[in-house]
Amino acid sequence: MSKILDVKDLCKTYVVDEQSNNVLQNVNFSMEEGEFVAIMGPSGSGKSTLLYTVSGMDDMTAGKVYFDGDDISSLGKKQLSKLRLNKMGFVFQQMYMMKKLSMIDNIVLPGYQAKLKPRAEVNTDAEKLMRRLGIIETADRYITEVSGGQLQRACLCRSLINSPKMIYADEPTGALNQRASMEVMRELVNANNDGTSVLMVTHSEKVASFSERVIYFVDGNIQGEINLGKMSSPDELAVRERKVKNWLDGMDW
Ligand SMILES: Nc1ncnc2c1ncn2[C@@H]1O[C@H](COP(=O)(O)OP(=O)(O)O)[C@@H](O)[C@H]1O
Ligand SMILES: [Mg+2]
Repeated sequence: MSKILDVKDLCKTYVVDEQSNNVLQNVNFSMEEGEFVAIMGPSGSGKSTLLYTVSGMDDMTAGKVYFDGDDISSLGKKQLSKLRLNKMGFVFQQMYMMKKLSMIDNIVLPGYQAKLKPRAEVNTDAEKLMRRLGIIETADRYITEVSGGQLQRACLCRSLINSPKMIYADEPTGALNQRASMEVMRELVNANNDGTSVLMVTHSEKVASFSERVIYFVDGNIQGEINLGKMSSPDELAVRERKVKNWLDGMDW
């Protein structure tokens, strides 16, 4: 097994009005290729900042982040954006979808940009993904003409279009009802079973229980983690969820 992500002494400080806010304080962790890791923790503890910095969306103040063997802190803007386009998928809260494009055009866009496969194939893949996630009927609508849940699922389709090595998901079920949440999770698990690593932030114990390892984050640092192992069947969900709940109850923070 090789490491897809290796984070060493990662620090991130925001300075606002001359006030420093040390949002990430010497964070250390790593992920093996193919792992599915969830991050939980109180609001404001730095979970989103962690996803932004380890994915190269935002710069770090100190430390090192290795992604698939590359030291991302040493890469220039162009190299970083190519790396993100070709190897990473994003399902973020601020969805960064293009308002002037239809749902399907948003989904195919990173596929056209990456040029990893012909456009016709990108189109077919986008339709396949939209069908699987139950949003094919919204393909030609503008993103302002769909529900938050449909948009969230489109975001997941877009993140999968280039078959990334890693998906970063920030509360991917945040805007969704129970049924749509389970569809999104099923799709993340499918991608993970195909070898894609997943790093996901969630507030939901149920959603976290799909992952194989849950990290608890407080005040910019890792407080603890629980190893659940890979889920081999959805029948295990209830037991896994209870494990996560009990573990969180015992967390001292
Ligand atoms: N772009 C930014 N500029 C300044 N401060 C920020 C910025 N983004 C986040 N923060 C601050 O960093 C802290 C952690 O935020 P965040 O990573 O969003 O937490 P979480 O995702 O765990 O709720 C908060 O105090 C937030 O106000
Ligand atoms: Mg957040």
